[in-house]
Amino acid sequence: MPSAKPRIAYNFRGVTMPTASHPAIRRLKRQGHSPSIHGNKLWKSSFLLIDYLNKHRPEHAARVMDAGCGWGIGGIWCAKALGSEVTSVDADDGVFPFLEASAELNGVNTTALCKRFEKITTAELKAYDMLIAADVCFWDELIAPVSNLINRAVRAGVKKIVIADPERSPFFEVADRAIDRHCGELLDWRTHNPVSASGALLVIENA
Ligand SMILES: C[S@@+](CC[C@H](N)C(=O)[O-])C[C@H]1O[C@@H](n2cnc3c(N)ncnc32)[C@H](O)[C@@H]1O
Repeated sequence: MPSAKPRIAYNFRGVTMPTASHPAIRRLKRQGHSPSIHGNKLWKSSFLLIDYLNKHRPEHAARVMDAGCGWGIGGIWCAKALGSEVTSVDADDGVFPFLEASAELNGVNTTALCKRFEKITTAELKAYDMLIAADVCFWDELIAPVSNLINRAVRAGVKKIVIADPERSPFFEVADRAIDRHCGELLDWRTHNPVSASGALLVIENA
């Protein structure tokens, strides 16, 4: 019996999410592109983030920052579904060819910015309505940078902050701090179709 062909993409809430088997992704890997800080695939938290935003369409989303974007699908969904102008930020410039390929598959553009969370200033954040992130609290060393980024975003007047996570322990530390300091809300979230994903969302309304 012939073996089943590997899936090359998911169509999820209006975006095309390529897998590692997608020809555009395979081409980049053959060319030697290789992200180095875990931005080597689309992480499942992106499904949680997109599903939440699809169900709770943000009122203010003209300018969106996707922090720790990896292949950038959260921001790409905002550009496609909400018409947002998106800046896709990552410390690793090795993710950007994958971001560009994913954006092209979806017929949108986002602006790539190579920057660490620690270097994103309050003044810079003033230009944004919404800050999103998926699976960016995967080491204890990321607790302070992500918490401080949230603090600066709130201070800058970013109206909504949404961070999705597969429930890694550093994320809960970030969430606890944000709940205390900014009245953030922690939501359990899961998706079933076409992909099963579960985790939590930290949502801060700063209107
Ligand atoms: C687990 S991946 C998640 C990628 C993407 N958000 C997703 O859900 O598919 C984490 C991403 O955060 C980026 N990252 C890690 N530490 C960072 C930092 N200090 N500043 C900015 N980006 C960082 C990595 O390069 C990587 O692309």
